[in-house]
Formats: sequence, C-alpha cells, structure tokens
Amino acid sequence: MSEATPEAKIGFIGMGVMGKNLALNLADNGYTLAAFDLDRAKVEVAIAQERAEAPQAAPRIRGCSSYTELLAATVSPRIILLSVPAGEPVDHVCAKLIDAGIQADDIVVDTGNSLWTDTRDREKHYAGKFIFFSTAVSGGEEGARFGPALMPSGDPYAWTRLRPVMEAIAAKVDPQSGLPIERKEPGNPVTEGEPCAAYIGDSGSGHYVKMVHNGIEYADMQLICEVYHLMRHAMAMTPAEIAEVFREWNTGPLHSYLIEISAEVLDQIDQESGLPLVDIILDKAGQKGTGLWTAVSALQVGAPAPTITNAVFARALSTLKEVRVEASKSLPGPVGGGIKTSRPEMIEQLHDALYCAKICAYAQGFQLMQMAAKEHGWALNFSSIAKIWRAGCIIRAVFLQPIAEAFERNPDLHSLLMDPFFAEQVGRYQSNWRSVVAQAVLAGIPAGAISSALAYYDSYRTEVLPANLLQGQRDFFGAHTFSRVDRNDGKYHVKWSEPGRPIVKA
Ligand code: 6PG
Repeated sequence: MSEATPEAKIGFIGMGVMGKNLALNLADNGYTLAAFDLDRAKVEVAIAQERAEAPQAAPRIRGCSSYTELLAATVSPRIILLSVPAGEPVDHVCAKLIDAGIQADDIVVDTGNSLWTDTRDREKHYAGKFIFFSTAVSGGEEGARFGPALMPSGDPYAWTRLRPVMEAIAAKVDPQSGLPIERKEPGNPVTEGEPCAAYIGDSGSGHYVKMVHNGIEYADMQLICEVYHLMRHAMAMTPAEIAEVFREWNTGPLHSYLIEISAEVLDQIDQESGLPLVDIILDKAGQKGTGLWTAVSALQVGAPAPTITNAVFARALSTLKEVRVEASKSLPGPVGGGIKTSRPEMIEQLHDALYCAKICAYAQGFQLMQMAAKEHGWALNFSSIAKIWRAGCIIRAVFLQPIAEAFERNPDLHSLLMDPFFAEQVGRYQSNWRSVVAQAVLAGIPAGAISSALAYYDSYRTEVLPANLLQGQRDFFGAHTFSRVDRNDGKYHVKWSEPGRPIVKA
C-alpha cells in the first residue's frame, strides 16, 4: 500500500484484544484497514497475526503512527471504527480526529460498551464535525474474531454506508433452523445465512439494547450459578457430574452458549492442585458496570426487572467474602434441611426451574426495552433484536428463536409471558420450579434469582396485589390519595384525623 494514496477502506483505532479481532475479521472479509493504537506494539501484533494466519494473501492491515496518518491512509468519505475503553477515551479520540482534520461526512463508529446516554449525547455533540455512530458488539474475543452480534444505531444515512461492512463481519444464522452457522477459520469467513446485525434506531438505542443484553446475561449467568450451587452443596454432586448434566441439558430447550461454557468451566482441572478449577476460583464476582446500568435504568423507567437486579446484587454480595466467612461461623441455617427428592427427580426439577426462570428474565429484559423505547421515542423491533441475539453474542441460545417468533406474531406483546407458547411452557413446568424454590429455602441455599423470577411470575399473574393496602398506608401518613375500584372518577382521600374519617374527593 503506498504512503501517498489513501487506499484503506476503513480506519481502525484501538488494537486491544477486541479491536485486533474485529480488524482481523474485517480483513478476512476483504476490507483493507489503516490501523492505529497509542501503543504501536499492539498494531504490530495485529499485523503479525494477519501475516501468520494468511501468509499467501495480500496484506490488508497497514499500521499508522498518528491520527493524521490514519486519516490520510483512509478513503473518503471515511469510515473509522473505534475500539477503545468506554467513557473519556472515546471523546479523547474524537478530539484527536477533529484536530487531525476529520470531515463532516466521515463516520466514526464506537464499538465499545459505552453508556447509551453518552452515545446519545455524542451523536448530537459531534454533528457537523463528523457523524458519530455506534455499533455495540457482543461475543467477546472469539465473537469479534469470527462473527459477533452487532447492535448499530445512529444516523440512518450512515447505516446505509455501514450496512455491508457490519453484515459482512457479523455472526450468521441459518434462516431455516434459526441456529448459528459456526465456522472459526481465519481467511474463510461465513458469508451465507442471516447476519446478526440490524439497525436498532437513533439516540444511543443500540447501546441501550446492548446494555439490556448484558443485564439479561447477568441474570442468565446467575440462574445457572444458583442451579450449580444447589447441585454442588445441597445434592453433593461433583463438578464433573454437574458438567455432565449441563451437557445433557444443552441438547434441549436450554441449549445455549452459557450452559455450554459452564460445563467446560466445571470440567476444568487446576493443574497445580489437581482439584476441579471451580473449587479453586475465589467466589468473588467482578463486574464492569453494564448489569448495574440495566438495573438502574429499570428502576428509572419503572420496569419490573427483579431477576436482573437480583443478579447484580448477587455479585455485590459475593464480594463481601470476609464478612460472609465470619457470618458463616455464627449465623445459623436451617436444621435438618436438605434436599429430600431423589437425584434424578431433583435434576429434572432444576432443569424446569432454570427454564421457567430464564423465560422470566428475558421477559423482564424485553419489557424494560419496551418501556424505555416508549420513554425515549425509539421504534424498536423486538423480533429483530431477538434475531440478532441468536448467534455471536454471549446470550445466544435456541431459546431466542421462539422469542423472535413471539414478537413477530405480536409486535406489541406486553410480555413474553403472555405469548401462547411461553405461557404454555411456564404453565407446564411451574410446579417443578415452585418445588425447587421451596427446597432451596428449606435447605438454606440462596437462590435469589430463581425465586425472584417466580415472585415476578406470580405478581404478573395476580389480579389483586396488596398495593391496595399500600395505597391506604400512603394516604394515611402522607395524604397521597388513592383511586377506587368501583368507579373511575379520579382520586380520593380519607381525612384520617377527623371524627368519622370522611372519605372525600381529592
Ligand atoms: C459481551 C459481553 C461483554 C463483556 C462484559 C461482561 O456481550 O460480549 O457482555 O460485553 O464480557 O463486559 O461484563 P462484566 O465484567 O460486567 O461481567
């Protein structure tokens, strides 16, 4: 590639693991790239990997030493992808690109895990200087390399230019079966099938949807962990035995990437001690913030998402290790508790509990997106979102296909629980779910996500909730008023301190 002629189809900034893998994925798909990272060594690693993987092919990644060089090397109007940490680094790079002479019709695409409100603000802030666009990426390192799920949002014109690029690098699904087309061969990308990339909307909506994906991911992971906990500590199963059960489950409706990798983690042996690795890993969970953002957003828009929120709290509780160790010595648990059900029967019950709770966690995530869409004026297509998540991303699962079909049947579906398929499934398996929650409580094994999902389900299907008493309490101490069930003519208040406590219109 000559120094003088801009020949790179795409500029790429940030050659960390995700950036490098996205760049290699683009190169596999025939795109030439001008790559820049503040740490030049990272660019060299990407170039060396490309050469090692495709020694016969013409080099497609050219290293650049500055923002100016990157702009000069990329054909106009430019497409520049960013893979830098969320937050201030995104604005830092944007400022550098402005200094280097980026043009108004150039597109800058943020592929990081940015907070959606930052993305919304950036779309406005950079208008006129360049087009700020975002494409949220899910799938971790391997997804980035061989096909992630992509959630693009921003200027619709920019999408028309970006669409072929995004569709090329995205994971693909077999349109007949709805299953991922898996191929992990450098230089031989999947070009057939339906791409897991579709325009989400404007104003940061893609990052919002990715955030909810992560909230669901937190819930899904926590549900699996609670099932593991019951098997390990209330049923005395070994990690290898649990892995075997998970592998079996992975052939049915629970088939998913997260079940698959859980089995792999449980099967791993620590080379140093010879013990199952899971017994060696410290039980303190980390988090980067996207689950927390989802929980905060659910609280803000008033969307009931207790299983997602519970999963965030479970991580927080896990970090109190030292306190828990102390408490374990002094706080009593149930006496004579424990699982009385036979192992095969209990395993079946746990399967059904996980399935039902998972339906509720997804129902919560989709309902949250529906309520947020209303609030922020987005026309989200929920069937399309479920389809994007069928492959490439962390929550990919066969389960996403019936979700896509449910929203195709009824785009305004209030909850997945109201879809005939899911309603029938939960109805059929709920007794095992209830049994698991009851047994976990009696055994003193925390199963907050599984039981919060059940409480959510029971609340959702309850005609009269105790919020009537709650409204009475609010009216008593704060004159907050209440509506009546026998007429629809506004608010009422009781003059609680007056003799006879007259009920008056507020
Ligand atoms: C994905 C993942 C990805 C990442 C999260 C995990 O979709 O590819 O969700 O975004 O692994 O950063 O976040 P925590 O560190 O909060 O678990």
